[in-house]
Amino acid sequence: MCSIIGYSGSDIAAPIIVKGLKRMEYRGYDSVGVATESDNKIELKKGVGKVQQVNSTIQLDALCGKVGIGHTRWATHGNVTDVNAHPHLSNSGKIAIVHNGIIENFEELKKQLEDDGYIFKSETDSEVIVNLLQRNYEITTNVKDTIIKTISELKGRYSFVVMFEDGTLAAVRYREPLIIGIGKNNHFLSSDVLGFIEYTDDAIYIDNENFVIIDKNQIQILDFNGDTVKYEITKVSKEFADAYKGDYAHYTLKEISEQPDTVLRAGENIKNAIKTVADHIKSSNNIYITGSGTSYNAALIAKQLFLKYAKIKIETIISSELQFSSYVIEPNSTLITISQSGESADVLDAVHIAKQKNCKIISIVNSLTSSLTRESNMIIGMNCGPEIGVAATKSFTSQIIILYKILDELTKDDFNIDFNEISHSISISLDNPEKIKQIAKKLKDTSDIYVLGRGIHYPIAMEASLKLKELTYIHAEGIPGGELKHGPLALMDSNVFAIIINPDDSTYSDTMTSAREIKSRGAKIIGISDKRSDLYDYWIEIPKATNELTYPISETIPIQILSYYVALEKKTDPDYPRNLAKSVTVK
Ligand code: F6R
Repeated sequence: MCSIIGYSGSDIAAPIIVKGLKRMEYRGYDSVGVATESDNKIELKKGVGKVQQVNSTIQLDALCGKVGIGHTRWATHGNVTDVNAHPHLSNSGKIAIVHNGIIENFEELKKQLEDDGYIFKSETDSEVIVNLLQRNYEITTNVKDTIIKTISELKGRYSFVVMFEDGTLAAVRYREPLIIGIGKNNHFLSSDVLGFIEYTDDAIYIDNENFVIIDKNQIQILDFNGDTVKYEITKVSKEFADAYKGDYAHYTLKEISEQPDTVLRAGENIKNAIKTVADHIKSSNNIYITGSGTSYNAALIAKQLFLKYAKIKIETIISSELQFSSYVIEPNSTLITISQSGESADVLDAVHIAKQKNCKIISIVNSLTSSLTRESNMIIGMNCGPEIGVAATKSFTSQIIILYKILDELTKDDFNIDFNEISHSISISLDNPEKIKQIAKKLKDTSDIYVLGRGIHYPIAMEASLKLKELTYIHAEGIPGGELKHGPLALMDSNVFAIIINPDDSTYSDTMTSAREIKSRGAKIIGISDKRSDLYDYWIEIPKATNELTYPISETIPIQILSYYVALEKKTDPDYPRNLAKSVTVK
């Protein structure tokens, strides 16, 4: 999603802003721009493409001045064009803005402004905000009242940084992230700690419905009524320093490779939190679990396991669907949310709906400074370190481990699972990528991949197809094995590859039946299993497990590796798949 950044301090702003934007690239974007103030004049450069590319063409980092703002845009209103890229200038040229989020009433506001004689260059909702700011500044003549008046007119969800021609910066947070970095002689505003982590690890996490004014290095934080609010400076976790690729070719490969360690770190040292959550679940009448994308696939696993092992029913709801089925939520229930970023707008909206029904919120989340943690009653951290690759990898396996730990607590001694065995099984797959690399070469030209699994392996099939789609752009579909003959079998022919998730457990023989049905229609079979079979055209061996709960993780790893290598074969960028963003902060 869009990243915003602001800088005010004793150094030249533009190079610092460009570096910050580069570090936030993982969030996903299509265009970039920077504006700076020097001698009471605003200068601006922007264009379509990656930061590096645009910078080498138009030298964003050569802009003068010690105050500036920058942006990477992920298009929502209007096409990907230079004109639609941020920053946007007000008609007078005296105010510039960078914005993340969506203004729902922008058409109505635009019409009013046009009636007042304002002219719009772009198709964006953001240009409406900057002209509204100009109109209000001309009325109020001070920054504080301008902001208060402007936000009272906006509907939607947004954070933005605005720069005035005298070098004053202001930034607003309304249901989108905004963080202040406090350096020695400088201040940073950013949607992400990575925007300034090279310069300072002192941060202020601005509360929702607050805004900040930075004027000649003086900082004021206010609520939407204009009252000063108290703030705390937090030391940003040093683990953000891990957000480097190191010797790995891509973040995605680094993050896949970290999993022998991250599965051991998931839920580490938080026995009390896990016990509190388990006790709450035991005493709750109705439990719902929600998430988006990969995190939703983890929720599907939770549903099966909680019922099987703890006899606890939980209902899964896709976060983006909850608004249309809010009636399923009984008042005074519990909603478990799973989210890596803690910033997915759909998940936050689901929480909002559940809170209106007086539900308690339990969150399994990686970013402990996210909006979701602030909205939750109980939090369990995934503890897998920053995940930069857009496709979720290590966060998924950490989510599963945390669910296992909660189950372990719920069932006490019945649920013996060896986390070291899981970690070891991951290492075995990681140490032997050669065969998978060969299969990747075969897959690169196919147009369709079907992934079959039964029981607990069906959500893994869903996750596998999501990973393949994102990283390789090949159409991939997860299918519960038994459903094959109810429709998808019609699609099977010699052009198709089918991945069969087939560990030697209670699902094995039924899944073999599905594999035979596919094979006899000419499709090529990739078996992921601890048991060899002649049916497989390609066999990806996974270690035999002493506990069947090792399998969901050990079968996920080869799929992640396969997706990564197919991406390399197809020369797509595994870290930044097209059209996608890491934190989906819009609905
Ligand atoms: C898939 C992927 C997305 C996310 C989804 C939820 O690889 O990355 O599907 O899983 O956008 O994100 P979080 O977990 O941050 O709420």
